[in-house]
Amino acid sequence: MSLFQLPDDVLYLILSYLDCKSLCRLSQVCRRLFHFTRRDAVWRKIAKDLINTGITRQGGDLYQGILLKDRVRISQNWSQGSCRKEVLLKWKTNLLPWLQLDHDVLYLSQAADIGAYHLSPDRGRGRFQHSRFALFSGHQEDVCRFVLTDTHLISAGGDGKIIIHNRRDDFSMEFYAHSQEVNCIDCKDGLIVSGSRDKTARIWTLSPNRLGKCLHTIHTFDRVWSVALSPTIGTFVTGTACCEDSTPLRIWDTERCQLVSCLGEDFRRGAGVLDIIYESPFQLLTCGYDTYIRYWDLRVCSRKCVMEWEEPHDSALYCMQTDGNHLIVSGSSYYGVVRLWDKRHTRCLQMFQLTSSTSSPVYCLRLNASHLYAALASALYSLDFTAPAPRTRR
Ligand SMILES: *[C@@H]1O[C@H](CO)[C@@H](O)[C@H](O)[C@H]1NC(C)=O
Ligand SMILES: *[C@@H]1O[C@H](CO)[C@@H](O)[C@H](O)[C@H]1NC(C)=O
Repeated sequence: MSLFQLPDDVLYLILSYLDCKSLCRLSQVCRRLFHFTRRDAVWRKIAKDLINTGITRQGGDLYQGILLKDRVRISQNWSQGSCRKEVLLKWKTNLLPWLQLDHDVLYLSQAADIGAYHLSPDRGRGRFQHSRFALFSGHQEDVCRFVLTDTHLISAGGDGKIIIHNRRDDFSMEFYAHSQEVNCIDCKDGLIVSGSRDKTARIWTLSPNRLGKCLHTIHTFDRVWSVALSPTIGTFVTGTACCEDSTPLRIWDTERCQLVSCLGEDFRRGAGVLDIIYESPFQLLTCGYDTYIRYWDLRVCSRKCVMEWEEPHDSALYCMQTDGNHLIVSGSSYYGVVRLWDKRHTRCLQMFQLTSSTSSPVYCLRLNASHLYAALASALYSLDFTAPAPRTRR
């Protein structure tokens, strides 16, 4: 019986057990097999084991527009650190920029404004800086952070304000949310959480008739640097400065606003938490001033993290991102150092130093299948993992 007499789905199933090399060889046998081996279904198992292919631990697919076979190839460049660095944008004064990525649009905050840029070169007419097509303004001081939802862009400012911009029209709505800087903000399913230097976290809603009305105020007794809503929005985490007696990572109930639990113990004074990412309702990553990335699994234990990775240069970690599977990308406080970590290994996989100036933290990182974007104090960089790396002199 020939291979092709099998029903398609059986053939796909068989092919999905092959390794990378065999699939590549098979794809060269004939046109028919070439087409069969191009299908995403055949590559899923392989892709799930590699970094940043878009296949998440839960089996989701983040980058459906690109063939999985191609993503497996690009993934090899991520592992090997093979990429081309480019400065997309430079500015004169030092700022604390923040980024969000939505398909082919990058949102970048610079001082009090947030610009939206097209990433694809044809629409951007060549230069990145010419591709800005929208501007979101209204803050009197710098934007600290902002989040995107399908319908809104919500920004938190040094002026104590939160501004809710409608992404479809020009409508925006602003209100004073805190008595000092709003350092951080998150929004999911119409619920907004903000955290401030004024030592409180507050809960708000996006529902039109209650816009700008505070639902709850939580006293954290310590400056709040980061917040994250859990995917089920039943709880949220605050990351605080760790300058007072309370521990820096606390989980709160969004309905009753009671403390649910504290993560970890024995944090050093000043071990403030700067970034928090939920990967599932029970699993989250945190990083900050104490130079560690920590992975918490709330089903296992809240007193101890299940894994941790230490920044080898003893510098604070300002931000991180993940691919929802094995990859973590971290940004540190000196020389614009960006590191790629594979969660299965304790040592970092790749390191990139983006600038030679000492005090140049990486404030924000975003990634897609092919690119990594890093916002530093005075420039926006991109690393392109599909471009030929510049030839090194021997
Ligand atoms: C990633 O960004 C580049 C532009 O910088 C774009 O061409 C590419 O399509 C993006 N990939 C995905 C999966 O969105
Ligand atoms: C991987 O990087 C090399 C250069 O180092 C480049 O030529 C190649 O196109 C990249 N692979 C993919 C799949 O983009």
